[in-house]
Amino acid sequence: MGRKLAECLSGRGVIFLRGPLGAGKTTLVRGLLNACGHVGSTKSPTYTIVEPYQVESRKFYHFDLYRIADPEELEYMGFRDYLDEEALCLIEWPEKGADFLPGADLEITLAYEDGARRISFEFENLAWKDKFCQLVGSKLEQVD
Ligand SMILES: Nc1ncnc2c1ncn2[C@@H]1O[C@H](COP(=O)(O)OP(=O)(O)OP(=O)(O)O)[C@@H](O)[C@H]1O
Ligand SMILES: [Mg+2]
Repeated sequence: MGRKLAECLSGRGVIFLRGPLGAGKTTLVRGLLNACGHVGSTKSPTYTIVEPYQVESRKFYHFDLYRIADPEELEYMGFRDYLDEEALCLIEWPEKGADFLPGADLEITLAYEDGARRISFEFENLAWKDKFCQLVGSKLEQVD
């Protein structure tokens, strides 16, 4: 799925990754980065809050806000500056950022169900949505 997303998510944008601990958010980001050409490890940003990546001319910021106690902490770390960059920002635990975060171009929700994982997508960015539906639309269950 990371590879499919890598084909669709061009340019800049914000992606929220929702789901409980261990649902597979970091693993999905790893798959996306590898498909974009990243070579090397993809560490979980649980302690660093953000891990930057550059693959050729493309920039990525992978956030994990789990340890943020107060959304104001994002102000101190210069969070808005990351969002202003020409980059793809992938944000785990966006609920910890509350009103400090902008709206997302795409929200991905992961869940465990009956021993398997379920993934759902909510697109605001219609260009991304069109590409994604062309790629995997026939395999998706549309809910609205
Ligand atoms: N699609 C998958 N199939 C099988 N195993 C998976 C899958 N996705 C994740 N895992 C495994 O589940 C574990 C937790 O995954 P991951 O670290 O990606 O979760 P997370 O949602 O980022 O958790 P956290 O909220 O703690 O950051 C890892 O051991 C990972 O290898
Ligand atoms: Mg994670």
